[in-house]
Amino acid sequence: MLPLSLYIHLPWCVRKCPYCDFNSHALNGTPLPEHEYIDALLSDLAHAVSKISPRPLRSIFIGGGTPNLFSAAAIGRLLDGIARHLPLTSDIEITLEANPGAAEAQRFVEYRNVGINRLSLGVQSLDDGSLQTLGRIHTADEARQAIAVARDVFPNVNLDFMFALPGQTMDRLDDTLREVCGFGVPHLSLYQLTLEPHTRFHHAPPERLPDADTAAAMQEHIEEVLAIAGYARYEVSAYAQPGAMCAHNLNYWQFGDYLGVGAGAHGKHSFFDKEGKIVRVERTVKQPHPRRYMESAQTAPETLTVESRIVSRDEFAFEFMLNALRLRGGVPRTFFPERTGVPLADIASMVRDAIARGLLESDETVFRTTAPGWRFLNDTVQCFLADSEEKGKKRLTAKNA
Ligand SMILES: C[S@@+](CC[C@H](N)C(=O)[O-])C[C@H]1O[C@@H](n2cnc3c(N)ncnc32)[C@H](O)[C@@H]1O
Ligand code: SF4
Repeated sequence: MLPLSLYIHLPWCVRKCPYCDFNSHALNGTPLPEHEYIDALLSDLAHAVSKISPRPLRSIFIGGGTPNLFSAAAIGRLLDGIARHLPLTSDIEITLEANPGAAEAQRFVEYRNVGINRLSLGVQSLDDGSLQTLGRIHTADEARQAIAVARDVFPNVNLDFMFALPGQTMDRLDDTLREVCGFGVPHLSLYQLTLEPHTRFHHAPPERLPDADTAAAMQEHIEEVLAIAGYARYEVSAYAQPGAMCAHNLNYWQFGDYLGVGAGAHGKHSFFDKEGKIVRVERTVKQPHPRRYMESAQTAPETLTVESRIVSRDEFAFEFMLNALRLRGGVPRTFFPERTGVPLADIASMVRDAIARGLLESDETVFRTTAPGWRFLNDTVQCFLADSEEKGKKRLTAKNA
């Protein structure tokens, strides 16, 4: 059966960072509607589960926003509610995203006690000047303390960083990387800072941003330093020690199903015939506005989905490869027919074209980018657009964090 994951979105932050285009809303000192929002999430989940083929959850990712604004009691109530709606696999990965400075790190012990087994900490930088430019609410030392507690408490920890920051030099990046390697956490995510539309940085770009060549050199340097320290770059922005790849994100990239619950959450789920073959794949987006989300969840949960789209037969090649080719090791060929319901013969000419252009390699078992195909990933993925006029327009995008 196609793996199933659950993404839960908690949409509040202490304040809004100037580079952030996620569905996050500054609390500005107003109280967190913790109880009401957890009720809304459970009502949303109950309705979502009634629409799909229920099966055990392989992973849960509680993202934001700043989920560690929520108390451990609230997170515990959420996890108990989830377990009442769907069975959980015995080795389920349950991640909570957390920001240093949002609550005392002591809360981490309580999160572990209610069932969280992986913490993803948004560190971004270990340089106080950069943290200030990024509008973060924590200092580098507060981040270091949070990392130390996280490492003691959780078997599995991810740290998020951004690079190509305003004024960042190769030397400064190198200092950060050496310190990061010393933490010895199992998983790291390093994202190049992007100026997303509708953010303050997009309207007023910060000064001294590294140019594209420097950013590319930084990306190479990160990969080299982390490889020496035992981290494999297994996806565009993700690095793991052996055995520590993120199960939840792997499921996105391998075209598994996921329920999206919470304000603005994205979901993807498949419908099967009696033989278990996929007949339809639907993508959904929930009401993004937190207040409207809570009101609808209580009165009419069937109205929470504000966008829904059935993936058409000629969109599968692009949608599948957009995700799968982000993985450096590629994806089993059999996943394409199994997870889209479309035979491999339908994409044979696109595959041949990508191979002929030196961007893709494929043996009996996997589809994988070549070294140039990995370097120019947008071009590689665009080989799989059905409508050639669309080529050049669509870019790589990420969903749900
Ligand atoms: C869902 S977001 C935020 C998680 C958490 N609230 C925080 O700020 O640490 C997950 C990660 O995306 C990255 N990110 C957010 N906006 C970005 C941007 N404009 N460019 C690059 N990376 C970004 C950050 O590293 C962030 O930790
Ligand atoms: S980057 Fe994180 S903390 Fe900052 S506004 Fe976005 S979700 Fe909130």
